[in-house]
Amino acid sequence: MKFFVDTAEFDAIAELHELGMVDGVTTNPSLIKKSGRDILDVTKQICDLVDGPVSAEVTATDADTMISEGRKLAGIAENIAVKVPLTWDGLKACKVLSDDGHMVNVTLCFSANQALLAAKAGATFISPFIGRIDDIGLDGMELIEDIRTVYDNYGFETQILAASIRSVNHVLDCARIGADVMTAPPAVIKSLVNHPLTDKGLATFLADIDAAGIKIL
Ligand code: E4P
Repeated sequence: MKFFVDTAEFDAIAELHELGMVDGVTTNPSLIKKSGRDILDVTKQICDLVDGPVSAEVTATDADTMISEGRKLAGIAENIAVKVPLTWDGLKACKVLSDDGHMVNVTLCFSANQALLAAKAGATFISPFIGRIDDIGLDGMELIEDIRTVYDNYGFETQILAASIRSVNHVLDCARIGADVMTAPPAVIKSLVNHPLTDKGLATFLADIDAAGIKIL
């Protein structure tokens, strides 16, 4: 499973990139707002660092303007994936931009039927939002399973980009189901390393190193 980082904070991306943990980046208008940066400037800076797909979202709601915005965003770098919402106009823009040869990430997906439409419109990525489904008392992971089944039934090549990931369990469940990509905030990616038995075991080893006076350098 590929790891995308869900942030527009350049320093946080750079830190994970140094460790080889960044297969791509996703941003959205809320993340751009949080960064306090200009969308074009920060997106260019991220694309200069990261080789994989960098999603940048359109701001318009009508297809024609989405297409113009998408072409402008795609002009920033070759690894831009233009992000469009899962609306009828978004699907129209997806078809045109993907026919142009651009990567397209169709976002705000909350049903397998929506994911089916996005695949038929030529989406490179479909972004089902797990956490926001959990937030309303349903099971976001069922959506990932359903999309996996539907896409595999018909051989769609659209990649499932599991989004709105909030926990380490979300990451593991996505990997079990076979999501192609998961995108998570840097804090969630970093928390994957944590395990109490690792901490406990290391504390014992350090005590024994101290007691025995073990030295390597
Ligand atoms: C990614 O593409 C989405 O914009 C993001 O994962 C949404 O996450 P949130 O529901 O935590 O805002």
